[in-house]
Amino acid sequence: MSRFITFEGIDGAGKSSHIDALSQWLREHGQRVVSTREPGGTPLAEKLRELFLHDEMDALTETLLVFAARRDHLRACIEPALAAGATVLCDRFTDATFAYQGGGRGFDWSVLGSMEHWVHEGRQPDLTLWFDVDPVIAAQRRAAARVPDRLERLDVAFFERVRAGYARRCAEHPERFARIDAAGDVGAVWQQVRQQVNRRGWW
Ligand code: TMP
Repeated sequence: MSRFITFEGIDGAGKSSHIDALSQWLREHGQRVVSTREPGGTPLAEKLRELFLHDEMDALTETLLVFAARRDHLRACIEPALAAGATVLCDRFTDATFAYQGGGRGFDWSVLGSMEHWVHEGRQPDLTLWFDVDPVIAAQRRAAARVPDRLERLDVAFFERVRAGYARRCAEHPERFARIDAAGDVGAVWQQVRQQVNRRGWW
């Protein structure tokens, strides 16, 4: 049966390697997996991603761009994959908009809710794994790993607000959110991911 699983957390939380690991684990268990990301996942949405990551813009423009990309992604990738019985693993989704544009940028939470309603047409993830980590630890990991993009250059105070945005979404949607303590090493975090998936008994 198809499932829609999203992966969330501040930049540097370390979710990417676990998306790959879960994808491999699901394939070994006979699942068809589509791994995708936001912003992005379709040719049009990948073009919007480039603009989003590298051009300066205000919070409203950021929000409109990510929802435009998401609309195309849902219509052309996520919904067809779910309809065909695949499990979709998505690196970030609408909770990132609430956390980054809502929490981080201070954009109106209820306007985000209206846009979500419009764009999703009822679709929500079946499970959202929130990789939660102290923004100071995340900043150290990013500095060691890569050249920062426009958002990754923002300060720890911004990422504290983003983290608070995720915590608010987690409290608002406990039925689908699972908090993963992402401060530990890769093995310890993977155990938590496996536990969260296993306890749902889906596969
Ligand atoms: P990433 O794919 O490398 O994680 O980069 C995407 C960046 O975009 C990341 O800093 C989070 C940010 N972002 C938003 O600000 N709002 C959104 O809705 C999404 C999906 C991502």
